Amino acid sequence: MTTPTIELKPSSHPLADAERNAILGSPGFGRHFTDHMVTIKWTEGRGWHDAQLVPYAPLSIDPANMTLHYAQTIFEGLKAYRQPDGSVATFRPEANARRFQASARRLAMPELPVETFIEACDVLVRQDKAWVPTEGEASLYLRPFMFASEVGLGVRPANEYLFLVIASPAGAYFSGGVKPVSVWLSEEYVRAAPGGTGAAKTGGNYAASLVAQAQAIEHGCDQVVWLDAIERRWIEEMGGMNLYFVYGNRIVTPELSGSLLPGITRDSLLNIAADLGYEVAEGRISVDDWKRGNEDGSLTEVFACGTAAVITPVGSVKSTRADWSVADGRPGEVTMRLREALLDIQTGRAADAHHWMHPL
Ligand code: PLP
Ligand code: COI
Repeated sequence: MTTPTIELKPSSHPLADAERNAILGSPGFGRHFTDHMVTIKWTEGRGWHDAQLVPYAPLSIDPANMTLHYAQTIFEGLKAYRQPDGSVATFRPEANARRFQASARRLAMPELPVETFIEACDVLVRQDKAWVPTEGEASLYLRPFMFASEVGLGVRPANEYLFLVIASPAGAYFSGGVKPVSVWLSEEYVRAAPGGTGAAKTGGNYAASLVAQAQAIEHGCDQVVWLDAIERRWIEEMGGMNLYFVYGNRIVTPELSGSLLPGITRDSLLNIAADLGYEVAEGRISVDDWKRGNEDGSLTEVFACGTAAVITPVGSVKSTRADWSVADGRPGEVTMRLREALLDIQTGRAADAHHWMHPL
């Protein structure tokens, strides 16, 4: 695979400083986009070509674009953080690049070389560096994605694709700061089955989740927790986050079953928790284990983790069978300690012992 050079065609009309600063004062999540984007094309027989950094702009889509019909599309999410010296660094872009390749393989799409993925993110962040927030844990969220750009209604892998990276300043994913979320255990709908696309970051997984998310809201909950497709018994993950269960000094996360997303935050926390002296494990946790751990007091905290959401405590659980609150329903000590330790590395306040930060 050859790596194309990214041609720079910057905007002659970037947003005025005052307008950008107003957005950075209250960015929300995924509502505002920076001045530029990167686009790279792939064509059968030619490979990757026409790599460009261009002004952020709408795309023109043919009504018979294959993605609109058959959903051959994948994406990633990673963040760029302002460092204490004013420079900017991204967190584990290589891990995202590798997961993007794994998603491409599952969706029968071409694999983008790891170095091209990283270079595309770097070029965009360098150009739009002024959009990286300087306050607290706010960051610039990068959204690399790829979709079939061929026109036609035949059901087969496309022979043309478009890869893009866009960027959006991000404050807290859940408005209201770190407050425990309530979760609904989805017994009627499943997110992914063995052999399906659950371990890939592909749009269809999210489309299929929306009806269950609506059901969660109807039951007064913030988020869905997915169970395994066969027994509807084993905890898998949440809509956009992995889960961790804290038993005092022992921390357990559901093992990678093949139908849940191998989260990069999840993997980072396995390491950080071990560094902090916790006993960490990947294992199977059933709904009954969760309920019982709560009743007998052995389960002290539950939290969710992901790039967009960072670490968010889970405060209460509802299902068709039972409702319960997790410990005292307040953010737990271990949850908050891990959250702080992760953010300290990302924002350059702590040493980067695992060499996860990618300076620009
Ligand atoms: N699970 C799902 C379904 C997700 O969409 C995400 C978000 O990316 C995660 C887990 C967490 O993954 P990561 O930590 O790599 O962001
Ligand atoms: C992320 O955390 O990067 C995600 O993709 C989660 C969500 C916004 C889909």
